[in-house]
Amino acid sequence: MSEVPRQHHLNAFLRNVGQHEAAWRRPETDLSGFTDIDHYIHLAQTAERGLLDAIFFADHPVLKSRSQDRLFDTLDPLTLLAALSTATKRIGLVATASTTYNEPYNLARRYATLDHVSRGRAAWNIVTTANAGAAANFGYPHHPDAELRYARASEFLEVVLKLWDSWDEDAFVGDKEGGLLVDPDRIREINHEGKHFSVRGPLEVPRSPQGRPVLFEAGSSEPGKNLSARYADAIFTAQPDYENAQAFYQDVKSRVKAYGRNPDHVLILPGLSFFIGGTEAQARALQNEFEDLTLPTYGLAQLNQTAGLSLTLDDLDSVFTLPGGGEKNIVMKSRVELLRHIASTETITLRQLLRRLSAGRGHRVVAGTPVQIADTIEHWFKNGAADGFNLIPPALPTSLEAFVDHVVPELQKRRLFRTEYTGVTLRDHLGLSSPARVCESSVSVEDPAAIV
Ligand SMILES: Cc1cc2nc3c(=O)[nH]c(=O)nc-3n(C[C@H](O)[C@H](O)[C@H](O)COP(=O)(O)O)c2cc1C
Repeated sequence: MSEVPRQHHLNAFLRNVGQHEAAWRRPETDLSGFTDIDHYIHLAQTAERGLLDAIFFADHPVLKSRSQDRLFDTLDPLTLLAALSTATKRIGLVATASTTYNEPYNLARRYATLDHVSRGRAAWNIVTTANAGAAANFGYPHHPDAELRYARASEFLEVVLKLWDSWDEDAFVGDKEGGLLVDPDRIREINHEGKHFSVRGPLEVPRSPQGRPVLFEAGSSEPGKNLSARYADAIFTAQPDYENAQAFYQDVKSRVKAYGRNPDHVLILPGLSFFIGGTEAQARALQNEFEDLTLPTYGLAQLNQTAGLSLTLDDLDSVFTLPGGGEKNIVMKSRVELLRHIASTETITLRQLLRRLSAGRGHRVVAGTPVQIADTIEHWFKNGAADGFNLIPPALPTSLEAFVDHVVPELQKRRLFRTEYTGVTLRDHLGLSSPARVCESSVSVEDPAAIV
């Protein structure tokens, strides 16, 4: 019997009219798309036509600064994906939500609902929210620091998992003749009393089609990686090059093992932004066209916020350096490490850096032919740097359509990607088995602070 080759996974990050910060300024971009359900239906159906594993929406519960310079994340991902679940049949639906600015009961219920509504295609991308501006929308005096956010996230997840497990699969009896609707012995209170939450349970939603929704996580700092290793089924990460991606892959897989989990059951999906052309020169010209439309005010504000810097437009033609210190003001430590790597290995002006960051903000960016893009994917996949990719189309719908029409067939030709969906749920697409219950799993309810 011939062995089934290891299958590659593809997720599409759908961000309004595209991830490139200047996508909205392209002449062909339909700006009304960003709040229009028909735009999102077209994107979801295009991704499904390409047999992708899932589509994914980010979430930032605050209007970002410099919103005059680029389109922002706008619609609530869970609501949007509930609508898209009715316009699609197979594709997985990944919604981001914050453990800092939500309560576990609310989220457990909403994701279990999406899993039912979509017949087993829901996933939660767990984030702690890096944007400090969110605090003011929730009555917090200030944004909690990373240590506290991750400690809360860890307990938040314990509670959500217990709530999803509070119904046994067969608890809904529906015995009309015998007069028994649900079996109370198969539904449990969780009686969680912790440092951050007190939740009695049970959930009012029966166990969902996937057992529980799939868990994605995107932290790249120490506590972020530990949280992923302990709980996540799949991990998003921003990796600028193969060497960094491979080191991250090995690091996280060994942490997964240390938590007593099977490393093959935790998929690592680095981001991939791409410019596709008939020739490499055409692809590079397209990338340049996008970069020419960037507004330095936006890139500068992002960079200053991410790295705790105070650079101005006067610095644009100076060589970029990243002074040490200022750690207190840093909100995304892993992205700062990427910037430090660039500053220490290259001579690059601030203007050049802002152009470079405009497509992916630290994610890998490839400009080339479909064959060249498939080469990068194959190299990372076969050499221990990725289990698949989180596609980051620079412009929507055009870049997604180009990928589905030109790169997917190339990956299929190389037997790296499915030619049809063989399962129904997202868990099927990702090759993940049914989840163990919290009480049976290796996840112990230890002091969450211990892993921070
Ligand atoms: C592909 C990807 C998508 C992300 N989406 C979000 C998001 O929607 N909301 C958010 O607050 N953070 C998001 N993040 C940021 C991560 O949650 C995390 O804060 C970041 O990777 C830095 O890791 P750290 O928090 O461990 O330092 C995303 C990160 C990646 C790589």
